[in-house]
Amino acid sequence: MSAAADALTAPVITFDGPSGTGKGTIAAGLAARLGWHVLDTGALYRCVGLAAVQRGVDLADEEALGALAQRLNIRFDGERVLLDAVDVSDEIRTAAAGEHASRVAAAPAVRSALWRLQRDAVPPPGPIAAGRDMGPVVFPEAPIKFFLEATPPVRVAGRYNQLKDKGMDANVANLARELAERDRRDRERAASPLVPAADAVIIDTSNLGIEAVLAQVLDVVDNRLPQAGQAAPPS
Ligand code: DC
Repeated sequence: MSAAADALTAPVITFDGPSGTGKGTIAAGLAARLGWHVLDTGALYRCVGLAAVQRGVDLADEEALGALAQRLNIRFDGERVLLDAVDVSDEIRTAAAGEHASRVAAAPAVRSALWRLQRDAVPPPGPIAAGRDMGPVVFPEAPIKFFLEATPPVRVAGRYNQLKDKGMDANVANLARELAERDRRDRERAASPLVPAADAVIIDTSNLGIEAVLAQVLDVVDNRLPQAGQAAPPS
């Protein structure tokens, strides 16, 4: 990435991995334990994809997408996501929005616009940054990096349950096809492909419940960043 990396003002813990591995849930669980907040970077790419479709920007026009990403005002308000002051929290969660996000995410100009935004979104006590390139590219100096993996059927089931819980339409065969296509695109793109950072702790969540994954994660955090727990709210 060409932009200069300013020193971080707070420690960052990163979670990368493909969709449906439990990244969001585990990041939220860890955030609740530590009293930190989650930086959901997938939401940023989803906002760029949504804005592009709404404004008729060609998803293959990298230059136009980069200019669009730079202009957008994306804000998090608790659980809600605001795109140019409009609440798009539900709209960005559809399967189509995921597909559009993955397509715009292949454009280096979009990635560098969002790189800046992500680096600037680091208020203390420290975010838990979840995405695809948090460890290797956006926060390479993060003291703790995780990479979550799971088998495709487990990931499809995870996505299916997530969408159903939100009252959205979901179909297992379609989800499996979309997931395979999104994986291919996210892993094979030239700009910041989905790969674990060299120093990432890799956890296969296929056969583990949320509490078991969280226990492994907390073990690593306690060992490597003992002071992190000091920010924890009383239980
Ligand atoms: O995590 P998610 O499903 O909300 O992400 C949607 C898409 O955004 C995903 O297919 C790839 C892209 N993405 C990315 O390229 N880099 C990130 N840090 C986060 C998401």
